[in-house]
Amino acid sequence: MKNIINIAVVGLGQVGIFLLNELNTKKKDIELKTGKKINVVAISARSIVKKRRFKVNKKIFYSNPLEIFNKTKIDILFEAIGLSDGISKKVVETALKKKIHVITPNKALISKHGDYLAKLAEDNQVNLEFEASVAGGIPILRTIKEGLATNKISKVYGILNGTSNYILSEMESSSDSFANVLKKAQKFGYAEPGNPKLDLNGSDAFAKVRILSALAFNTKISKHKCLMEGIEKIELKDIEIANQLNLRIKLLGISELINNQLFETVHPCLVNKNSYIGNVGGVMNAVILEGKPVGESILQGEGAGPGPTSSSLLSDLLSILRGNIKKPFGIPSNKRQSIKCYNVDNYVNSLYLRFEVKDKPGVLSTITNRLAKYKISVKRLIQTPDKKNKKATIVIITHKTYELNSKNCLSIFKKDKNILKYPTLIRIYN
Ligand SMILES: NC(=O)c1ccc[n+]([C@@H]2O[C@H](COP(=O)([O-])OP(=O)(O)OC[C@H]3O[C@@H](n4cnc5c(N)ncnc54)[C@H](OP(=O)(O)O)[C@@H]3O)[C@@H](O)[C@H]2O)c1
Repeated sequence: MKNIINIAVVGLGQVGIFLLNELNTKKKDIELKTGKKINVVAISARSIVKKRRFKVNKKIFYSNPLEIFNKTKIDILFEAIGLSDGISKKVVETALKKKIHVITPNKALISKHGDYLAKLAEDNQVNLEFEASVAGGIPILRTIKEGLATNKISKVYGILNGTSNYILSEMESSSDSFANVLKKAQKFGYAEPGNPKLDLNGSDAFAKVRILSALAFNTKISKHKCLMEGIEKIELKDIEIANQLNLRIKLLGISELINNQLFETVHPCLVNKNSYIGNVGGVMNAVILEGKPVGESILQGEGAGPGPTSSSLLSDLLSILRGNIKKPFGIPSNKRQSIKCYNVDNYVNSLYLRFEVKDKPGVLSTITNRLAKYKISVKRLIQTPDKKNKKATIVIITHKTYELNSKNCLSIFKKDKNILKYPTLIRIYN
């Protein structure tokens, strides 16, 4: 690799603009650590006039990022637009075909087109690096690819969405509703102001789970429709009841191999308040990895925000500048296998079930009889009457049961006039 490296930064939003400033201020440090001088020769965003957090050099500004390839010679391109397709895919594809290394924090793009783009990078003998796409500043991908390279990993799981973790933590500490805490999260920049849906419905965490699985198990990125639930249906009431039970609600992303089949899930879990994962609060992320012979490894850190994200982007840059040309997913694309999906019906958990019911004789026995019919046995039951409104809240903690049983059992409650809303189900993490 030559000694002067030309760089393009495409996308000057929260991440891109912070990265640009880091590249400018860390030039000397980068040269000291890699022996390479970096020059940012092209930047791109939609609007040249938009006010940005750091000043940009308008002489190297392109409103169409594809023009960069015709106008200037670049060695490394950062893609920080963030679309799963469209211009993001086109820019990355074009760069790789032109033998330009690509670094991106774009989990939507990698989880959807990562296999194709990795093959393109390998065919053109350049890097495609995406450390920042999973868990922000936590170097989890490089840890799997390098630090734990020869381990047989059986499970990777953790808190992968800082927005959801902040909302759940804040609902507990301030005893405030989901809607109010979401507003607070948007005000502090922890949740997207326009459309926070992808963070809240589990999609963001699921994209990260898919990338983690591919790296941990040397497989193609799965396309299976697995179990995905977000935190939108969690009410303050559930958090308060969990608290009484010495439990806490966390949105976990889980990927594991069960009988050589891949099981990927994202859903809220009740975890012990004294457990490690139960104490990862606020916007923090944590990833726990089980491997042989290493055993259990835990990495925790800030999972989002331009600072932690830029930290990972720069670590990718230094890896490239040091000449570490690697396969994007650790092994050659043609050796990565597709893997069968584990049947979610066989997923086994104890459950927390909350029923809002009419306070009438016989309602409780209807519920317990129905649970028994589906082989769901009750471990604990808490009934809280609301005499004034002739209603009651019934919380049942069950023994372990199959997902299929709970799915079939709960669907019947939809039709019961004494059950005032569809029961809330939260799985208790083993
Ligand atoms: N924000 C975080 O904390 C975080 C953390 C981890 C990973 N990420 C990932 O980082 C990526 C960027 O996120 P972000 O939060 O920085 O997004 P953002 O603030 O929405 O910025 C997107 C940028 O892309 C530019 N853009 C959009 N369409 C374009 C086009 N056709 N041509 C050129 N530029 C275009 C926008 O230009 P204008 O500014 O002119 O509108 C804007 O500068 C995403 O993949 C995201 O998932 C973000």
